[in-house]
Amino acid sequence: MRLHTAVALAAAGLLALAGTALAQQPIVIKFSHVVAVDTPKGKGAEYFKKLAEGRTKGRVKVEVYPNSSLFKDGEEMEALQLGSVQMLAPSVAKFGPLGVREFEVFDLPYIFDTFAELHKVTEGNVGKLLFQKLESKGVTGLAFWDNGFKDFSANRSIKLPADYKGLKMRIQSSKVLGDEIKALGAIPQVMAFSEVYQALQTGVVDGTENPPSNFYTQKMNEVQKYLALTDHGVIEYAVIVNKKFWDGLPADVRTTLEGAMKDATKYANDIAKKENDDALEAVRKSGKTQILTLSADEKNQLKKVLLPVHKENESRIGKDIIAEVYKATDFKP
Ligand code: LMR
Repeated sequence: MRLHTAVALAAAGLLALAGTALAQQPIVIKFSHVVAVDTPKGKGAEYFKKLAEGRTKGRVKVEVYPNSSLFKDGEEMEALQLGSVQMLAPSVAKFGPLGVREFEVFDLPYIFDTFAELHKVTEGNVGKLLFQKLESKGVTGLAFWDNGFKDFSANRSIKLPADYKGLKMRIQSSKVLGDEIKALGAIPQVMAFSEVYQALQTGVVDGTENPPSNFYTQKMNEVQKYLALTDHGVIEYAVIVNKKFWDGLPADVRTTLEGAMKDATKYANDIAKKENDDALEAVRKSGKTQILTLSADEKNQLKKVLLPVHKENESRIGKDIIAEVYKATDFKP
């Protein structure tokens, strides 16, 4: 064999090897989120990873980055649009900065009484419409995941509206939530989730609102003396992907991942209530935060002050969307 033939053959062999290696490279999905692993969303993400990797027999690798370890609030949406991350599950209170304010319908105080009511919306017309609105932003919505009902916390006893006066309260980036805090005579402060513990500890803010699962797993019970069981709103997530990435997947892989997402959604939503009940129990047991239960009258007083926030945000969210949610949940304004 002439030398140059041998070199050509060797090169061809190397190329073939490289080609095989490339063909075997898994498709990587970076899934970034801001909460602890031990939460409904954290566990849902891990479960999706397990199903996705197993069912695609390793063709897909899901790298889950919990606890804002890859991107924080305020960074992650842009990272998704740029393709630096492929999958997120932000709270629906964080879609305003993306230019899709209609998601803030979920933040309207006391609009949902039960998970069943919430699901009527996420699984109905409004859920579909909201996901359609994402497409023009280069984002595809795959599923809604539950966390739970939010409670207010602070270092002073907070039961009646007057108790909130002057408190600096951390909120997510939603105008509706800002209006909710203002309605209580308190001062809203938008802040990334990853910064809340320290802000509470150092007194940058006085209080906040969370479902018990987030409150406990971020150790806020160490820095908040009172947690009032107000159940005035929800934290709900939209699992979203970069549209170009998702549309560009081999069709069979995409179908398998859609199936994995469907099952992970069921899993996450099935565990959400218990995760929150257990977290509340853990807060109680820690003995650091006093849990305040509101009487029907106290809750009504809070409702009376908070409900005008619906009307104030009619033009922002859209009258039709609000009306559809009212209808689905049998809400009487
Ligand atoms: C928050 O910022 O309080 C929540 O959106 C965090 C989360 O993802 O549950």
